[in-house]
Amino acid sequence: MKFFIDTGNPDEIRAAKEMGLLDGVTTNPSLLSKENRQYRELLTEICEICDGPVSAEVTSVETDGMIKEARELAKIADNIVIKVPIIKAGVTAIKKLESEGIKVNVTLCFSPTQAIIAAKAGASFISPFVGRLDDISSDGMRLVREIITIYDNYGFETEVLVASVRHSMHVVEAALMGADIITMPFNVIGKLLKHPLTDIGLEKFLADWEKVKK
Ligand code: G3P
Repeated sequence: MKFFIDTGNPDEIRAAKEMGLLDGVTTNPSLLSKENRQYRELLTEICEICDGPVSAEVTSVETDGMIKEARELAKIADNIVIKVPIIKAGVTAIKKLESEGIKVNVTLCFSPTQAIIAAKAGASFISPFVGRLDDISSDGMRLVREIITIYDNYGFETEVLVASVRHSMHVVEAALMGADIITMPFNVIGKLLKHPLTDIGLEKFLADWEKVKK
């Protein structure tokens, strides 16, 4: 299972890399806007830190515009992957970009039918947004399970990239289902490590060691 970090913040990306937990980065316009920097310069820095795929999203909603933007973004670095929303105009763009060797991460996926279209168009990655489905009392992880089953049924090679992750259980469930990738905010990495019994156990070991170390 690959760990991507869902952020536009270079310090968080460096920190994940130092922990040996950085397989890739996903960004979107909202995440990049938080950094108050010119987006090309920011993406260039992120691509220098991260050896794996770095997703950058197009903002055009028309096929030609998406393709043009994607070609420009792809010039930033070899590891740029283009995020394309799963709308009608995006489907042709996905096919064209993949045929040019530009990898596409299909974003804003909320249904198995959208995931089927993305795979048939030849996308490298599909990003089901689990947290946003949970937010509206739907079941985000059920969508992931359905996509994995469908892709396995037909041998689609599109990688399932679980996105809009909010907590540790999203990570555990995605791992149990065999999702290829999970992209998470930096704070979720900390939560994966945390267990009260680890803290209590360590405190006791250190206290007992004080008694015998001399
Ligand atoms: O990068 C896309 C996705 O992970 C967004 O997450 O928390 O804004 O729903 P969120």
